[in-house]
Amino acid sequence: MQKRLLQWYEKNGRHELPWRNITDIYPVYLSEIMLQQTQVNRVRDEYYPQFLAKFPTLKSLADAQESEVLAAWSGLGYYSRARNLHKTAKLCKNELPKSYEELLKLPGIGSYTASAICVFGYHQNLPVLDTNIKRVIKRLFALIDPSEKELTRQAAKVLNNKEPRAHNLALMDLGSLVCLPKNPKCQECPLVSECQGREEPELYTQTQKRRYKAMDLFYGVCISDGKIALIESDGNMYKGMLTLPKIDPIEDAYITSFKHAYTKYRLTVKLYRCEEAPQEAVWIAPYALHNAPLSSLIKKAIANLPSNYL
Ligand code: ADE
Repeated sequence: MQKRLLQWYEKNGRHELPWRNITDIYPVYLSEIMLQQTQVNRVRDEYYPQFLAKFPTLKSLADAQESEVLAAWSGLGYYSRARNLHKTAKLCKNELPKSYEELLKLPGIGSYTASAICVFGYHQNLPVLDTNIKRVIKRLFALIDPSEKELTRQAAKVLNNKEPRAHNLALMDLGSLVCLPKNPKCQECPLVSECQGREEPELYTQTQKRRYKAMDLFYGVCISDGKIALIESDGNMYKGMLTLPKIDPIEDAYITSFKHAYTKYRLTVKLYRCEEAPQEAVWIAPYALHNAPLSSLIKKAIANLPSNYL
């Protein structure tokens, strides 16, 4: 079974992904943090190469200002990932620790990321359990709603001690290319003869129905000397980021509105002219916007302003 899995991977795996063709640990770590909540193609095309070009080593990241790291993360969402990445770089300076337990102690590194660094970076012999691999293991052993411990036990049972890295990457790709949540392509699967869940694969996949939440947001746009007033975000999620000030809507001052989707939220964002900026405002010129720590929503709001508004 292990041999068939590796043969399948050799032929069909996503070998071209840039973080799979390196021996350095820092880019492996960076890719795993980015991939935690972001689609592979977006990370590969829009963020990973650009971030690495700006911060090529763990040391260069440690030496940067948090606002520079957040600016490089702008638009990627879940900004605590960037803050923790920076904290971890500062704690480690030149090199990440090699043990799973030591990695777990670092900010932003949970059990998945620690195991991914150990296996994909340091070639250690551990099971990696991301969403795709979990689905493969659940089906392979017909496990309905297993605990993390049970999943780890089963994944360890089939682990390939000689090739743990290729084995885990193969399971990951099998989950994302063949063992799909809906309509899995069992006829293409190298593990179909051993798969205990093959008769009813969907039984082993909880598909959560997303409940969307509609919400209106109102922002004030204050321009002076060709610069826009932004303020520091409050709250934990967007700490360190810049945002437009929230205001109560004033019909006469309406500029424009747009739709924005964010996790479970389906937002209608309305922008209003604002004569007076908050005292703590930071004034940003248009040329400096691409270097500012802005969320996708705020970038979109600025892009939605009528031309020549700024
Ligand atoms: N290769 C290594 N880790 C990965 C991940 N988390 N997602 C996709 N490909 C990967």
